[in-house]
This record gives sequence, structure tokens and C-alpha cells, in this order.
Amino acid sequence: MNAGRNPQLGPDGRLVHLLTLEGLPAATILSILDAAEPFASFGEREVKKVPLLRGKAVFNLFFENSTRTRTTFEIAAKRLSADVINLNIGASSTSKGETLLDTIDNLVAMNADMFVVRHSQSGAPHLIASHLLATGRSHVHVVNAGDGRHAHPTQGLLDLYTIRHYKRDFRALSVAVVGDVLHSRVARSLIHGLATLGTPDVRVIGPRTLIPARVEGMGVRVFHDMRAGLADCDVIVMLRLQNERMKGALLPSAGEYFKHYGLTDGKLALAKSDAIVMHPGPMNRGIEIDSPVADGERSVILPQVTFGIAVRMAVMSMVAGN
Ligand code: NCD
Repeated sequence: MNAGRNPQLGPDGRLVHLLTLEGLPAATILSILDAAEPFASFGEREVKKVPLLRGKAVFNLFFENSTRTRTTFEIAAKRLSADVINLNIGASSTSKGETLLDTIDNLVAMNADMFVVRHSQSGAPHLIASHLLATGRSHVHVVNAGDGRHAHPTQGLLDLYTIRHYKRDFRALSVAVVGDVLHSRVARSLIHGLATLGTPDVRVIGPRTLIPARVEGMGVRVFHDMRAGLADCDVIVMLRLQNERMKGALLPSAGEYFKHYGLTDGKLALAKSDAIVMHPGPMNRGIEIDSPVADGERSVILPQVTFGIAVRMAVMSMVAGN
């Protein structure tokens, strides 16, 4: 394969896979957000379908658990009129010893047109896309639905969509990303997207044990004091504590964490009076976010879920060539 080329862009620069927001041109990101706009009100229509993926087989390959992401990808593919096949991989062939690429080859032999891949190993979707390219099957597309700690590009895009919906201009915003940044593919994808779209002030807030070393290289400012970090920001993105990814004790206790980094009405008052509160879900109430904030009028957590379907429709129809 051509090692120098960004494998998610075709020779003509068109998006053929979505693997990461890192290195994706601003024009491409904005074209996805624009393409999602008409789909965002789709759920209110009587007939919630367009034929953009009619006759295409979309395989949902979730090697790691997910409810929201898998379901919204399935809804998005169905609204595009695709045939959707959900594979519960944990319970099937890889547990019998089959390699990832053998699984892929078998599904391509069943005429798969697109793979939506979630995997606990960073780089798995990239590996699949490179394999398809190297074996001359570049008509099959890959969409990363979250790989390890690396990237969650459709989550990043739906977060960008939500921010643009409520705040319009990325170039005039302060965005705070709070919590377990170390283990968060959500944070990484959002930070890459915000940097590309010219957001001047991106802050990461969390305890020293949960902020990656050299994160400033991504163009963010680091705060360990949440009150200082939230001052006058426009957007607050709360992250889930990824206990399943933590090796050893990185935190004293849930109660102690909530005291310092849980978002309460008191801490929210330090942000701008019209600041919005986001969370990718699933939320841990009382650990990273207090219920009155999660359910409060500044919370846009449920609109994020709805926008996620529209963004996934836009991504799938674009990589498939529409
Ligand atoms: C995120 C994920 O899986 O990375 N959730 C999601 O996509 N709905 C965030 C998380 O699990 O904390």
C-alpha cells in the first residue's frame, strides 16, 4: 500500500473511509456537518428513509460493547435504506481463534459494502482499511466506531455538529474537556476537530493521573483545578471515567473524584451564563456529572444523540460515494 497517503482519502482526495479526524481537512469536516443538516430533522418525517444506500450491505462489527453507538449506526444505515447486519463478534468466530482479517475476508465474500467497526485495539479499523486497499477491494468502506484509546471520529463529528448548532462560530469559542482524557478516544477526536476548525481556546481539565503527557502538543491548555479551567468557557464536554481501561489505582475514590471534577451547578456557574454541557454517554451520575446538571436546561446531552444519527447518515452516504 502507499504508505505516504492518508488511507481514508482516495487518490482524488475524496473520503473513502472514516478512520480518524486527525489530518482530515477542514473542508471535509465541514462538508460532513453540512451534509448532516438535512438529516437532523429527519426523525420528525413520516417516512424516515432515503434510498442513498439502497441495496448496500452494511456490517456492524462491534468487538467491544456499545448500545448507543451501535444502535445509532443501525438506525442511520436503515434510514439510508441499507441492509444492516449486526455481528456480535464477542460471541462468534474471533473467540474461536479466527484472525480479524480472516473475519473481514469472509464477510467480503458475503458481499459486504461497508464495515462499521468498534474494537478495543487502537488501529484495528486502519488495519482493515489498509488490508482492503492492499487486496484490491477498495470498493468496500470502513467507518471507525471507536478504536481503543485512539479515535472515535463519528462521536467527534457529532460533538462538532452539536457545538456548531448551539454556538455557530468555532473561531470564537472556549471549549473545556473535563475528566479522563488519558483513556478517551472521544476527547482525542474532538480536540483534533476543534484544532482543524480553528477554535482558539481548548482546555483539558482533570487530575494529573488522567491527563496524557505532552497533551499540550495538541494545542490545548491543561488545568488541574476545575474551577480555574471552567472560567468563562462556552462549551463543557464531560467525559466518562473509563474504569475498564484503567490499570492500577489512578484515582483515590469516586467521591473524591466528584468533589474535584464532578460537574455541579456550583461549578457550572463559573462558565459563561449560556454555556452548554455535553457528554458522550454513558453517563455516571454522581461521579463525573451531578443529576441536576445532566437534566438541566444547559444540558444538550440528548440532542447529541439525535444529531449522532444525522452525522452517521452523512458519513456513510459520503464514503459510499454520494
Ligand atoms: C464513548 C466511547 O465508547 O468511547 N461512548 C460512546 O461512544 N457512546 C464514550 C465512553 O464510553 O465513555
